[in-house]
Parts: sequence; C-alpha cells; structure tokens
Amino acid sequence: MTRLDFEALYERSDWYDLQHMNYTEDLKFYRRIASETGDPILELACGTGRITLDLAARGFKITGLDISKSMLNLARSKSTDQQLNIDWNLADVRSFRLNRKFNLIFFPFNSICHIHDRRGLESLFTSVRQHLTPSGRFVVAMFVPNHRYLHRDPSHRYPVSRFPHPENGEIVITENNIYDPATQINHIRWYYKVPGCPDELEVENNMRMFYPQEFQALLHYNGFQIDTIFGDYLMSPFSGISSMQIYVAQSA
Ligand SMILES: C[S@@+](CC[C@H](N)C(=O)[O-])C[C@H]1O[C@@H](n2cnc3c(N)ncnc32)[C@H](O)[C@@H]1O
Repeated sequence: MTRLDFEALYERSDWYDLQHMNYTEDLKFYRRIASETGDPILELACGTGRITLDLAARGFKITGLDISKSMLNLARSKSTDQQLNIDWNLADVRSFRLNRKFNLIFFPFNSICHIHDRRGLESLFTSVRQHLTPSGRFVVAMFVPNHRYLHRDPSHRYPVSRFPHPENGEIVITENNIYDPATQINHIRWYYKVPGCPDELEVENNMRMFYPQEFQALLHYNGFQIDTIFGDYLMSPFSGISSMQIYVAQSA
C-alpha cells in the first residue's frame, strides 16, 4: 500500500473539530440518504464523528472507520459523553474486513481524495463491495476539480480558516498549492499560525483530483452501477456547473 501523507494533518483532532464545528452543510443530505436505505450504516473515514454522531443521535445503527488514532479517540470520547452506541474501528479504507454487511456505506467530505493511486482505489472498491448488502448503497462525495483553484500562484498564501484556539486567541490557517496534472495530485501545504508559537506549523494536505467521467468509469470497472449523481447536498442533479460530484451506487 502506498504511504499515507496526511498523518500530521489529522494529529490535532481537537483543532479539526474546532475548524469544522460550524460545518453542517452535508448533514441533512446524509440523514435523508440514511432514511432511504435504512441501517446498518458504515461511514468510511469518519474522523471525529461529525456525521457519525449526528446519524447515531437520530437512532441509526452506525459504524465508523478511520485510520487516524487521534481522530477516532476524539470520536469515541464524544460518543461516550453523548451516550451514543457507535462501533468505532481503526482501519484503512483500502483493506478493511468487518465481517458484516451494511445497507449504506458512505465516504463523505472529499476523503476519497486521500487515496492517490489506482491500486488503493481498487482495493477500496473491493472492500466496499464485500460489505454491502445485495440492495445496499455506496455514496461518495467529493468536489469537482476547479482549475482556477488548482492553478493559483504557488508563491502566494491564500486563506483557509480561522477558529478559536482551545486556550487563547485564534488559530489561522493559510495555504498554497502546486497541482501536478500528470498525477492529478494537488500538493497543498497548510500553515497554522498558533497563538504563542513563533513559527508556523506546516503540514501536507495532498488531494488527488477525480474528473467526473474518470470517476464514473472507475465505479463501472470496479463492479458498481450508478443510480444517481447529485451536484450538491441539496440533491440537485449533477451538471456542468456543479461544484460537487456525489455518487449513489450499488453493486452491479
Ligand atoms: C476530511 S476528514 C473527514 C472526517 C469526517 N468524515 C468528516 O466529515 O468530518 C478525512 C478523514 O479521512 C481519514 N482517512 C484518510 N485516508 C484514510 C484511509 N486510507 N483509511 C481510513 N481513513 C482514512 C483521515 O484520517 C481523516 O479522519
């Protein structure tokens, strides 16, 4: 398996949570999909449980899977605090074996962009197919590559986010990037300005870009049939002006 290059990015799971505490744009979408498919549900790359906890709180039987100990530890402590019964699993989405099947498996929030090569993707798709019930659905959400963003001036710094530091002041994240059209990997660097630290903290956040026709072919040649493609979390049909590509598929 190819080396994963984002460990530092998710090491500070408390910062991840603070950065995303107001991001709720996709929650209604997953609630709606979950009510259509029913449980049991598996979230791939569940992180700190932003979506997992929301679905569990609505009564869905859900399992979360992630490769980052730090992210999962925080997820687990939040579910304990909220008295939610969630099965958390430390595993790689490219090779998981849970010995049970799900009516819905979803891979949200651009997390598939962390899988950079074809072997990793093929092995992810095999694992997903092995864990889907016969009528189960696989949902994957990611942005559509945006050339204005990918080809920005790499010597310039662009704002990403600012959020309160757990103790004092605020953390400010800026970024720059260099996109490699040959590998379709956007080499992003995030720079954290943390109160009280003279030097910025620098982490890699490299994202593989998937073009719509390419991703549809990947699903097709890996044993999936696409039911629907949405262009946003409001379930608008996917089109040439969509900024998101959200696939609902099932085993072919
Ligand atoms: C952007 S976060 C998304 C977290 C959560 N799903 C959310 O929506 O807030 C991406 C997550 O993907 C996880 N991840 C990336 N590659 C993975 C892999 N190969 N196997 C399992 N988890 C992975 C990271 O550890 C991180 O928690």
